[in-house]
Amino acid sequence: MGRVVYVILFLMGMSLQAQTGIVPEKELKMQWFKDAKLGVFIHWGLYSVNGIDESWSFYNGYISHKDYLKQTKGFNAKKYDPKAWAKLIKNSGAKYTVITSKHHEGFALWDSAYGDFNAVDNSAAKKDVLTPFVNAVREEKLKLGIYYSLPDWSYGGYTHFTRDSIRYKVEEEPQRWQKFLKLYQGQLRELSENYNPDLYWFDGDWEHSSDEWEAPKVRQMLLDKNPNVILNSRLRGHGDYETPEQGMPITRPKSPYWELCMTMNNSWGYQKNDSDYKTTDQVIGIFADVISNGGNLLLDIGPKGDGSIPNEQVEILQGLGRWTNKHKEAIYGTIAGIPKEHFYGPTTLSKDKKTLYLFVKGNANGEVVLRGLKNNINRIYVVGEGTKLKHREVGKVYWSHYPGIKYIELPEYVLDKNMTVLAVMLDGEVDLYREDGSVIESN
Ligand code: GLC
Repeated sequence: MGRVVYVILFLMGMSLQAQTGIVPEKELKMQWFKDAKLGVFIHWGLYSVNGIDESWSFYNGYISHKDYLKQTKGFNAKKYDPKAWAKLIKNSGAKYTVITSKHHEGFALWDSAYGDFNAVDNSAAKKDVLTPFVNAVREEKLKLGIYYSLPDWSYGGYTHFTRDSIRYKVEEEPQRWQKFLKLYQGQLRELSENYNPDLYWFDGDWEHSSDEWEAPKVRQMLLDKNPNVILNSRLRGHGDYETPEQGMPITRPKSPYWELCMTMNNSWGYQKNDSDYKTTDQVIGIFADVISNGGNLLLDIGPKGDGSIPNEQVEILQGLGRWTNKHKEAIYGTIAGIPKEHFYGPTTLSKDKKTLYLFVKGNANGEVVLRGLKNNINRIYVVGEGTKLKHREVGKVYWSHYPGIKYIELPEYVLDKNMTVLAVMLDGEVDLYREDGSVIESN
């Protein structure tokens, strides 16, 4: 239902734009996000010490809460180099980053005035580890996203503790809940005042209703601080964009704004025992699918308790960086591509829709096929490499406007080691043949 309203509002916005030339406010606010395509998610907290599931390990009873908390002694941030983190993220081609300021277990990375369960008062690091990262992110001119878990499972005033133990129900102890609301909203005020993030990434909203969280009020409070701040949808729908998790959408999501958050292996936080990393090739392939469908990829890393980033993760980011840098014109500021019937692979379009980018995996047997493209092609070249490519049209008959099939010759020596990208310059805005039936009958 929410989604339908969303789409209707979006379409209304589009027609307003067509009639008046005025770009709706939401579109203006979302523009950097739409253009950014790639973000890096960071899960860093107590769980990074033992290398166990973030918060869920005690919630689900794999470890006691007491033992979980012992990780504070190992969270020393000894090798933490926030500038190097920000540089690594920047060089991956990401335009924004989202860091866990506080996960469901409630441990805050900054010096929160609310309680003492934070990196300064309650960890071997004995310092605020969020502020230096925020500063480094700003220095690298990346957009800053802050992940904030609404639930706070360690706090005695919060309803949920573990899977088998709920402290109380809101309706039974409304005063107690009020106290918690003050804490969480106070922390959000701190984050806004200290860091003025460009984006908030909420999580855990499923534990309470929008009314209980006071979601509309929280949204307003954050917008009052920064009218341009973007909120993800996990504030009981009072956000700006959808967050599919782990599963790459197969069909194009209806929402105009979405971001796939995905781990590199199978864990959000650092886990020594999880070496099941996706290959750089696979990450790039998924990224191309995401942007082809108009979304962003928020790719996760999990630094260790000492602040070092595991090599496998560094290598994936570096591999991604080489590829995104070479192909930047086909990535940033582009829009979703054409339907898959026309090209069996990911595609993007320049904003003016006059350049079509084709993402080609492997050598495509030396030939790339484009179907049902009505435009004439001005030029085809290999992105980031420059070679002009030849093409030939097959199946075009003079008495029909059916456009025939275009075959692009792809020599081996122009291939990228991960994924080759071709720019197809058209004689105008992309124009696709979408008619039903056979050629003769459509005439
Ligand atoms: C889930 C999990 C959480 C993780 C998040 C990232 O909601 O609860 O542990 O941080 O996904 O998207």
